[in-house]
Amino acid sequence: MYDINSFKIKENPVILGLESSCDETAAAVIRGRKLLSDKIISSATEQAKFGGVVPEIASRAHTEAVDEVVRQAVSAAGITLKDIDAVAVTYGAGLLGALLVGLSFAKALAYTLNVPLIAVNHIRGHMAAAYLVEESLKPPFITLLASGGHTAILHTQSYTRFEVLGGTCDDAAGEAFDKVARVLGLEYPGGVNVERLAKNGKNCVPLPKCLVKNSQTMQFSYSGLKTAVINFCHNAEQKGERVVKEDIACSFQHAAVDPLVAKTVECAQKRGVKTVTAGGGVIANGYLREALAKECKKAGIKLVLPEKGFCTDNAAMIAAEGLIQYLSGNFSPLDINAKAQIPLK
Ligand code: KG4
Ligand code: ZN
Repeated sequence: MYDINSFKIKENPVILGLESSCDETAAAVIRGRKLLSDKIISSATEQAKFGGVVPEIASRAHTEAVDEVVRQAVSAAGITLKDIDAVAVTYGAGLLGALLVGLSFAKALAYTLNVPLIAVNHIRGHMAAAYLVEESLKPPFITLLASGGHTAILHTQSYTRFEVLGGTCDDAAGEAFDKVARVLGLEYPGGVNVERLAKNGKNCVPLPKCLVKNSQTMQFSYSGLKTAVINFCHNAEQKGERVVKEDIACSFQHAAVDPLVAKTVECAQKRGVKTVTAGGGVIANGYLREALAKECKKAGIKLVLPEKGFCTDNAAMIAAEGLIQYLSGNFSPLDINAKAQIPLK
């Protein structure tokens, strides 16, 4: 009989993390905060033909990959299924069909092994990635979160409590990178390609910063910035002028990233918090990473930055958030459903 109130909490549990919210089927194993394995099977190349993620293709790809990716993760961790103490899985936000593949698999595995199921909010996973970078990392810290669906600065006060200090009022930073990539004729996934192009460009195109001027609430807006890039390209085209794509990419990158970095450091200073972390796909951006490191150093703030592969979607971060939930005994019932959207708070 599966009873979620019967599970004992271990100090250093072995947790299998599973992630299938978008186009990556990922599995990872941690013991305590130590990462034992991390595997990803991605359908991104197949999706690239369509210029973005096609939900049906993603669901099918997950169905084909989920069993294999778990096998790989378990084997690379040097464990057997019987060693697993809990199964953590993304239950939202994301593509419903895609989420359901990972969630159903995780439910079946947790039930079979008679271990807790921990349903993880994908965004909380991005925030938890930093725990695997440094085993001694403890709240409080400020997190810069920037992914394809979210952009926010958060104050994590304890392992289970956080406050949203600011965020976007329209598009997310990653979404803007992807849209600008399309305008510049770059392939999906866009963010990394904008970064590549920006390396050979100059910050010389006048673009608005992504910050809404409002001292009360601290809000970012990426939709205006994206529109400014589109208008700049159209105007040049109408005048028959040649646009230097590298310069547009570089200028956009500055406009999109600089305020995020500045405001993150400012939040840490205002709150008297000495540590900054970051998570989400946009944090894989090399320019952002360098700028954040530089500004944190200048301000005497410690930066705990996950490696690039742990900023974009992965299962290690889901296992990490699973660990936080596990240690506070926050287990999920087997009838929990996937959710396409979950509010940040
Ligand atoms: O966290 P993530 O992998 O998936 C979501 O949860 O959304 O983030 C994906 C987003 C995409 O918009 C992608 O273009 C962006 O992160 N991204 C980047 C870079 N790598 C991924 N943006 C800028 N520079 C990069 N190197
Ligand atoms: Zn993500």
